[in-house]
Amino acid sequence: MGDRKLLLIFGTETGNAEELAEDTASMAAKHDLQSSVIDMADITPDDISGWKRLIVFCSTWGEGEQPDNAQNLYDAVSESDDLIMEGVNFGVLALGDTAFEFFCQSGKEWDSILEEKGGTRIKERVDLDTDYDDYAEEWIQETLEILKEIE
Ligand SMILES: Cc1cc2nc3c(=O)[nH]c(=O)nc-3n(C[C@H](O)[C@H](O)[C@H](O)COP(=O)(O)O)c2cc1C
Repeated sequence: MGDRKLLLIFGTETGNAEELAEDTASMAAKHDLQSSVIDMADITPDDISGWKRLIVFCSTWGEGEQPDNAQNLYDAVSESDDLIMEGVNFGVLALGDTAFEFFCQSGKEWDSILEEKGGTRIKERVDLDTDYDDYAEEWIQETLEILKEIE
């Protein structure tokens, strides 16, 4: 029997992505998945590589930049070995604002670096605008439905 663990990491400046990660943990419990919600500042690429199920929640700041708590982890993943994310089944929920030129840029970067490093994308990324509350839950539910089947 495989484990039932789910890793939820967030990159945030004002808490929106963190709140979605926390909500996802509650939703995941109904699928018999045990979540760990972790700040991107508190985890390393090696820590992530041991997980089979991962959802990334990340906003974008500045002009298409990573949130402060996400930058070091993003750089570390970029500099890691090519297959460090092999066996990690992931989905990315990106938060942003279409008023900005580089809409959801950080989430796009996470989505591509995780694949580049050997991870398996199990759900197309969703890029959410300021009305994200109306749309996040559907994507999260669909993603959990897929992740719960992974042994
Ligand atoms: C100063 C500032 C810069 C921002 N820059 C971008 C940006 O370049 N691209 C984007 O898509 N959203 C941008 N946003 C929107 C945020 O990503 C959005 O408000 C998000 O919901 C914040 O989530 P968080 O609380 O998890 O950080 C910016 C917001 C602010 C206030």
